[in-house]
Amino acid sequence: MRHDESRALYDRALSVIPGGVNSSVRATRPYPFFIERGDGAHVVDADGNRYLDYVMGYGPLLYGHDMPDPVRAAVQSYASEGPMYGAPTEVEVDLAEFVARHVPSVEMIRFVNSGTEATVSAVRLARGYTDRDKIVVMQGGYHGAQESTLVEGSFDHAEPSSPGIPSSFAEHTIPVPFNDVAAAERVFEEHGDEIAAVLTEPILGNTGIVHPDDGYHERLRELTEAHGSLLIFDEVITGFRVGGLQCAQGKFGVTPDVTTFGKIVGGGFPVGAIGGKAEILEQFTPAGDVFQSGTFSGHPVTMAAGYESLTYAAENDVYDHVNHLAERLREGISDIVADQAPSYTVVGTDSMFKTIFTREGHVAPRNAADVADAETERWERIFWQEMTERGIFLTANQFESQFVSYAHTDEDIEETLEAYKEAL
Ligand SMILES: Cc1ncc(COP(=O)(O)O)c(C=O)c1O
Repeated sequence: MRHDESRALYDRALSVIPGGVNSSVRATRPYPFFIERGDGAHVVDADGNRYLDYVMGYGPLLYGHDMPDPVRAAVQSYASEGPMYGAPTEVEVDLAEFVARHVPSVEMIRFVNSGTEATVSAVRLARGYTDRDKIVVMQGGYHGAQESTLVEGSFDHAEPSSPGIPSSFAEHTIPVPFNDVAAAERVFEEHGDEIAAVLTEPILGNTGIVHPDDGYHERLRELTEAHGSLLIFDEVITGFRVGGLQCAQGKFGVTPDVTTFGKIVGGGFPVGAIGGKAEILEQFTPAGDVFQSGTFSGHPVTMAAGYESLTYAAENDVYDHVNHLAERLREGISDIVADQAPSYTVVGTDSMFKTIFTREGHVAPRNAADVADAETERWERIFWQEMTERGIFLTANQFESQFVSYAHTDEDIEETLEAYKEAL
């Protein structure tokens, strides 16, 4: 495979874009391939190389790179007729109604422009609603580039995980290990009346895919309720992917107070959203006093793409297809792993999948620390390159989830399994 064009583009980019990329995870080694176009389940790079894509934009592309006809028609029409106004449009009401109809916890929803913006606003909303400052987060959980959740450390001592964030932010954030009921109970014993919210992904999706133990979310629900705190599910990844249109909360049967969305709900365009009980959501301005606003929020092109994408999923076998193919993939990789790398663990559900390079004697990951102990360098420096050379585009590190789309086929799964066999 030749990469001359990509290398030259990266050379140019390094002069004008920090690190040559606009989002850190894209800086693959030694340099990223630059995408020229998508085509169904494939992407084609600047040198004409074709890859079977399981990155899928890091999650938003439920359909792969070809929009279903009604989505394409709506996007083209809204893009050419505006494209935006700074005044409300019908399609944002359509999408809000759709989400409220399908997602158990959502009575009202506010649209924003990214998952980060959604979690920033959700944390502010929880603090405003409860008149408390502290939030509990999961170690290794990811909620975007926001000051309150970019923390590391533990229950007793949290520090910002990036320069540029005053340590006073971390003072209000309490990280606990995922799946550790005792740690959550202890935090509530000691700080129960100061905690505005527990903020967690239903499944950790940015740290290898870590599934909740049975009863974990239920216990968080009980603790938050008992102490007058909110339970916020960050469904930016799992929303409209895990559990289909009811999202992960429907699949797990746990109803949070507030949910953040992103990725799929915008049909491939920049989006975020905060949904939940009306009583809480109406704290947002202008209904209430918790400030929330945005020039591009509820952008008509995004709203149309989201609404038509979800409507298409409601009317077609989309989730059956992606979940079935991903199950075949997980089973196939599990067989290969059993043969060639028996200490490794295959994880995922619905259309998410990942192989964790767990070491000999280690168990299936139950939290972020278990994933961090895996052979993370092997994934990044050897395995990813081996798969790329075989025309399979995976997420470039051990931590980020991978996704099967509606455009993938049985033949694609066979091809992928052959590549795993050779590369593992
Ligand atoms: C669970 C979760 N929350 C929030 C975010 C931030 O979303 P965005 O990158 O759209 O700001 C992400 C991004 O991957 C995410 O996975």
